Formats: sequence, structure tokens, C-alpha cells
Amino acid sequence: MWMKSRPRRLRNHANFREMIKESDIQISDLIAPLFFIEGENKKVAIESMPGQFRRSVDLLVEHVQYLQGLGIKCVALFPAVEEGLKTPCAKESYNPDGLNQKAIKAVKSACPNMLIMTDVALDPYNSDGHDGLVREGEILNDETLEILAKMALVQAQAGSDIIGPSDMMDGRVEVIRKTLDENGFQNVLIMSYTAKYASSFYGPFRDALDSAPKAGDKKTYQMDYRNSHEALREMKLDEAEGADILMVKPGLSYLDVVAKLKQNSQLPIAVYNVSGEYAMVKAAAQNGWLDEKQIMVEMLCSFKRAGADIILSYFSEEMAKLYQQH
Ligand code: PBG
Repeated sequence: MWMKSRPRRLRNHANFREMIKESDIQISDLIAPLFFIEGENKKVAIESMPGQFRRSVDLLVEHVQYLQGLGIKCVALFPAVEEGLKTPCAKESYNPDGLNQKAIKAVKSACPNMLIMTDVALDPYNSDGHDGLVREGEILNDETLEILAKMALVQAQAGSDIIGPSDMMDGRVEVIRKTLDENGFQNVLIMSYTAKYASSFYGPFRDALDSAPKAGDKKTYQMDYRNSHEALREMKLDEAEGADILMVKPGLSYLDVVAKLKQNSQLPIAVYNVSGEYAMVKAAAQNGWLDEKQIMVEMLCSFKRAGADIILSYFSEEMAKLYQQH
């Protein structure tokens, strides 16, 4: 049969496929999220996230050095705070000598070239397990902003390079930007969790930090997964408030939102390949139902194809190891 156009011609040879590929993953695109705890020489497995651990700061530092050797350029730090330090006012969140700030300083001094991203939200410090202050079941917006600003400041003072507000309070990017600038931290970036959805894909992360909400859910502040135009509204606000990078979270079920933000913004777009997405792949692979490495590469590539410039993923280490083998 004669045909003028045969798309398969371009797929015939592996070299052609390499030449014409539209997207690719670089190790420098990846950010590795890491969990840590108080103590020394501790490495505690996270059951719902096989291959991920809560490490004491000494072992966290060693691990970051190892990741640096693999070519990873940025880590995102998440403290698992002791239950006794959690209060309704979440005051441990802006303790300059708290676990999070100790970890930032330790990682920075051991690996000055590694970028450090830190999380701004109250849930790991709040006895209510919510990202904002709670009063009679209501998540308070404006009262929370003051604490978020204090948190961002102690993180910047400890050496954080990228502040990641993950709380979804209105107006937080502007308040954080102002506070950072007033204190001489003009060069500290804000990667805003712009379109963060109220999602059940965060389950394993909340196990890792024991940070699940004690009552209710996060639907009054995180976005409704039935919506995508609303993400553009959040995008415009974050841009106007001074965000440097916009993030979509979760990743896999939200690739349309990633594509939408990429098409509508000139800022770099990040995506968070969250804990539940990692857990699903691990569980299926452990059962022999999926090829873990191939799924990992396909998944990470799909984020790039959708338009993400940066990917936060628990697979970062494995992906970097795979690259070293080639
Ligand atoms: C804290 C925060 C969460 C995640 C990142 N920062 C949990 C939540 O909002 O409930 C989830 C990350 C993941 O699931 O991998 N606000």
C-alpha cells in the first residue's frame, strides 16, 4: 500500500527516536524530599514509603552528601517533630534552634553547593495537624500568615535557599516576600505551592510526619480536585505577590494543570510527584506487577512532557543512580 506519510519511519531506529525526543529528564531537574528526626545515628523506615527513611540530622547530612555525589542539586527538607512540641499555636515552627533549622545549618555547612528547599506550613508543628491555626474548627487565614512569615524568616536565617509555602492560605506569598526582603533575604527564592489540591495522595507523607489532621479535612484551603481554571486564579495571585516558581501538587493526576500553568505563565513550573504516587508504584513493583524502573522513568518523563521544569520526587535518588549506570 502506498502512503505519503508514515509516522513509523521516525520510530524505526533507536537513534532517530533519541534525536527527535521532545522531552527528557535531567538529574538537575530533580529535587529530593527528605524526612528527618531528633537524635543521633537513627534511620527509621517509613512503612508506606519503602526506600524512604526518617533520619537523624547526622545521617541526613551523610545522605545529602551521597545525593550530591549522584548529581542531585536540591533537597527539600521535612522535619518530623516530636509530639510533645506540637501546640495549638505551633510556636515550634519559628524556633530558630528547632530541629528544622538545625538540619538546614548542618546540611548547608557540609554541602554548601546543595540547594536547600524548606516547607512553610503549620501542620508538622500544630497539635491540630492543620496547615493553619484552628479556632472552633475554623482554619484561620490572616492570623496564620504572621506565623508563616516568622517561619520563612528563621528558615532563611538558617540558610534555606528556597522557601516553599505549602499551606494554601490566601496572601501568604506576599507576606513572606515582604518579610524576607525587609530582613535582607532578597535572594531567597519562593517556590509557591500554587495549585495544591486537597488530595488523598498525601496519605503516606502524613504517616511519615505523623501530621494528619486531628479533625476534619483540608478542603477549606487546599483546592478542589474537580477544578482546573481555579489554578489560573491562584497562578495570577502568586505571580502578583512575587513568587519565583509555581508548583502543582500532586503530579500524576494533575498533568492537565501542569500544562495549563506552563502555557499561561512565564515562571518556571514545578510539580510534586507525591508520596501516594510513590507508594502505588512501590507496592505494585513489590508484588511483581510493574517494572519499577521503567515506570519511574516513564512517570518522570510525563511530568516533563506536560511542561514541568522541576520535579520533586521520592524517586530522585533512584533516577540519579540509573543515570550513573549509563
Ligand atoms: C505540608 C505538606 C504536605 C505535603 C507536602 N507538604 C501534606 C499535606 O498538605 O497534607 C505532601 C507531600 C507528599 O505527599 O509527598 N503542608
